[in-house]
Amino acid sequence: MNETMTERELIEWYITAGVDCICGDKPWMQLEKSNSLYFQKDPVKVVEQADTKQEEIPLSQTVVSACQSARQICMKVETLEELKALVETFNGCALRMTANKTVFGYGSPTADLLLIGEAPGAEEDRSGIPFVGRSGHLLDKMLQSIHLNREDCFVTNVLPWRPPGNRTPTEGEIAVCLPFLKRQIDLVKPKVILILGGSAANALLDNGESISKLRGKWLEYKLSDGTKVPVLASFHPAYLLRNAGQKGKAWSDLLRIKQKLCEN
Ligand code: URA
Repeated sequence: MNETMTERELIEWYITAGVDCICGDKPWMQLEKSNSLYFQKDPVKVVEQADTKQEEIPLSQTVVSACQSARQICMKVETLEELKALVETFNGCALRMTANKTVFGYGSPTADLLLIGEAPGAEEDRSGIPFVGRSGHLLDKMLQSIHLNREDCFVTNVLPWRPPGNRTPTEGEIAVCLPFLKRQIDLVKPKVILILGGSAANALLDNGESISKLRGKWLEYKLSDGTKVPVLASFHPAYLLRNAGQKGKAWSDLLRIKQKLCEN
């Protein structure tokens, strides 16, 4: 970047550097003590103050305490509204600092079908609603093809915050946010779960299978009260937008979902 750049060149430079949204009018340093979650001692202590004794606490310990505080929150709440309010103020995941909005689950709190994606993208981060971008439009069409609309369903993500630049979420971020996803599933108590994409499937089912191996087979998810819910994993709509040739398989998964919903 140099000082003789035109505004257009400057914007192009930012786009090339991977900037796709503006978080504020003034620049700020995320790693400065006053700005960063990494320097907050409560509830998750990560690193002591920058210029005093630098005692690094291993990431795994940080993640464990953040998971514990996420679980404690989940035990306290009995409604989706309560959970949403507490997730919005949760301090244990640094993604909240870089995200514009918390993207909590959306739709019918008594839905028969619950859908799970990976994490919000740029559009979702702006609106606070899951699956409203290009993938969301395709998802709406997919649901319409089996005579459902998103208001009939509950749509959520493994992560309620967008990872910067849509990077792949870390294992720690997934582990910390998983209790929130699981509590949403408990509270909705759906008849059927559809997982969109391998990353969300691996997070919820805790296995490392590829989506092409997982998809199309009925699996089971246990709610905290022991109720077993049938789960199907299928391709993520973003993948289908890039690989239209796989839409046939996604369509057969949707028909399985429809059939299961009719059986139950
Ligand atoms: N992709 C996801 O996995 N979730 C969204 O909400 C949007 C895109």
